[in-house]
Amino acid sequence: MADYTRLDVWALRAQKEGYPARSVYKLKEIDEKFHLFKSTVLFGKSPRAKILDLGAAPGSWSLYTLRNTASSLTAVDISPLSRQFDKGLFDDKERFFFIQADMTAMETKTLIKERGPFALSLSDAAPATTGNRSIDTARSLVLAETALEYAAAVLAKGGCLVVKVFQSGESDELLKKIKAIFDKGVSFKPKSCRRESFETYYIGIRKK
Ligand SMILES: C[S@@+](CC[C@H](N)C(=O)[O-])C[C@H]1O[C@@H](n2cnc3c(N)ncnc32)[C@H](O)[C@@H]1O
Repeated sequence: MADYTRLDVWALRAQKEGYPARSVYKLKEIDEKFHLFKSTVLFGKSPRAKILDLGAAPGSWSLYTLRNTASSLTAVDISPLSRQFDKGLFDDKERFFFIQADMTAMETKTLIKERGPFALSLSDAAPATTGNRSIDTARSLVLAETALEYAAAVLAKGGCLVVKVFQSGESDELLKKIKAIFDKGVSFKPKSCRRESFETYYIGIRKK
């Protein structure tokens, strides 16, 4: 069985490089492969294009975004962000807005809609796992479907989506929906995902 109490090589590297979680390397790999942060929508005419980060705590993806773009960021999580490494970036009210709430709640949806439209929507949201694969994949799918709902409602035309999902038969259906909304929809599993993990990321490129 996996030992999650031991800091692995990725987690140690994250801390050394000023990120609270190893998940930052998954976003880095996605960014390097798909160049989502460099897309014309983000940097062409509007250097302050808006980005959405769902399931943002403890905050590695948010920090990566703030450090590598000039964009403004809206982040959402039920848990608070870690303030260990942000060096004040999370206090920059011009660029960063955090909503501590359930992303599936109606009030959160209303709040996020008011802050759009977004050029890029990221979701690394994941349920607390139970060890029961069908329960965990079903809960992950609810979060991923919600992220897709946000993409349909608040992502600008030409915008891109990154969404984590625990793979199952039903998650294949989600990829089909992404392909219908975006010019291109692909599945990508970063090397930095734990070997035993059944998570993957779906990438939607250029919303129609
Ligand atoms: C893998 S962590 C995200 C790590 C983050 N991307 C980072 O780099 O620090 C998954 C997050 O999803 C959040 N989450 C799960 N269900 C949620 C919900 N209904 N609404 C908002 N956040 C949720 C959890 O609280 C957790 O912080």
